[in-house]
Amino acid sequence: MSKNSRRKFTKSLFASMALPATLPAVAAELDYSGRRADSLPVFAGTEEDYWEQVKGHFRFAPDLKYFNNASLGSCPEAVRKGTNEFRDMLDSFPSKYMWGGWRDEIEATRQSVADLFSVSNEEIALIHNTTEGMNLVAQSMDFEPGDEIILADHEHTSGYIPFEVWQEDKKVKLVRPKLPLLPGTKEEIVKVYREAITPKTKMIVMCHIVNTNGMILPVKEVSEMAHEKGILVAVDGAQSAGMFPVNLDELGCDYYAASAHKWLFAPKGIGVFYARDSSQKHLKPLIVCRGYDDKSIRRLENYNTRNLPELLGLGAAVKYVNELGIETIGKRSYELKSYFRSQLENDDQFKLKTPAPDELSSAIQVVEVVGKKVLKVKEQLFEEAGIDCRPMSKFGLNGVRISLAVYITKKDIDELVSQLKAIAA
Ligand SMILES: Cc1ncc(COP(=O)(O)O)c(C=O)c1O
Repeated sequence: MSKNSRRKFTKSLFASMALPATLPAVAAELDYSGRRADSLPVFAGTEEDYWEQVKGHFRFAPDLKYFNNASLGSCPEAVRKGTNEFRDMLDSFPSKYMWGGWRDEIEATRQSVADLFSVSNEEIALIHNTTEGMNLVAQSMDFEPGDEIILADHEHTSGYIPFEVWQEDKKVKLVRPKLPLLPGTKEEIVKVYREAITPKTKMIVMCHIVNTNGMILPVKEVSEMAHEKGILVAVDGAQSAGMFPVNLDELGCDYYAASAHKWLFAPKGIGVFYARDSSQKHLKPLIVCRGYDDKSIRRLENYNTRNLPELLGLGAAVKYVNELGIETIGKRSYELKSYFRSQLENDDQFKLKTPAPDELSSAIQVVEVVGKKVLKVKEQLFEEAGIDCRPMSKFGLNGVRISLAVYITKKDIDELVSQLKAIAA
C-alpha cells in the first residue's frame, strides 16, 4: 500500500470517531526545548489497536490495571520526557531558568491552557491543584455575617473545608442541600440549587463532576440562574478538566479550579485556575511576595521559587491532549462508559450507582456488587487481578469507583467485568 493510500485507508477507518490518522508522537516535539520531534508514525489498524497504542504511551507497573485515574492520573511518555528535560535544563543553570529565563515558555503554556478551555490567557493562572484554587476563592471573599454560600452534600473536602475555615468563622452560613444520587435529568439537580437560593445567597460552590459517584452537575444552567440574582459561582473542576471538552466561556461560571495531574495527564502538583475577567476583582493572592501588586491574574501564581518543570510539563500535557484531540478523548470516554455499563446493567448481581444519561455522567462510574462489602470487593479486584480502583462508601454507595481514562481499552474492561462477575458469584 502506498503512503497516500494507507493514509486514506486510515482516515476512512476512523471517520466515525474522527480519530487522528497519526498517533501523538511518543517523543513529542518539545516546543520549548528547541528539539525536533521524531517523524510521526502513520497508523493503520483497528480502532482498538489505536487505543492499545495510546495505552502504550503510559508506563504502569507490570500487571497493574489502573482504573483509578479519578484519584490520580499518570503521565504519558511525551510528558515524562518533556518534564525531565525541563528539570535537566533548570539544573544546568538554576538562577537563569527560575527567574526570567522561561518567561515566554510560561506564557506559551498559559496560552495553550486558555485555548483548551476556550478563554483568554488573561483569565488563567497556573497554580498547584484544585485544593489551592478553592482556598483562593474561599479566602478572598469579603462576605458579611449572615450571608450564605451553597455547597451541596457531594462537595469534596477540598471544596467545603476552605469555606468552613475561611468563611464560617466570619459567621457566613454554609447551606448544604442534598443532591439526588441517581437523577434522570439535569433539571432534578438544578431544582436543588434553585430551592436552596435565598436573598442572602452570595455564592454557589459546585463540582463539575462529583468525585463520589461521577455525576456531572449542570454548571451552565446553575450559573445562568445564579447570575440573574447576582450570585457568584465557583466550580471544582478536578474531575472534568481533560475528560471531555470544557468551554469555560460557555459554562459561564466565575471561577474554575482544576488539578492537571488527573485527566490532563500533567506532572503532579500543577493545576489550573480560571477567573472570569469581570470576577477577578474579588480575588486576593493566597501568597504574597515581590510582584504582589501585579494587576493581572499572574498575581495569583506569584510564589517566587516554584515547580517550573512541572508547570512547563503541563504545556507538554496539553500538547499531548491536543494531539489525541479533546473531542476524540471525550467521545472515547462515552464509548468506554457505555461499553462498561452495557455489560452490567441488566445483571441483578450489580447496581450501577452513577446516573446513566450522557449529560449526567462520563468516564467515572460506580458499581455495587450486590451483597458484598465494597472494601472486600476492592481488595479482591487488586489481589486477584491487579485491578486498582477506589472504594466509595459515602451516601450508601458501597461501590467501586471505576475510572475509564484513554489508556483503558475494551479488553481491560472485559477483564474487569469478568472479575466483578467472579466476585459476585
Ligand atoms: C472533586 C475533587 N475536588 C478536589 C480534589 C482535590 O484535588 P487535589 O488534591 O489535586 O487538589 C479531588 C481529588 O480527588 C476531587 O476529586
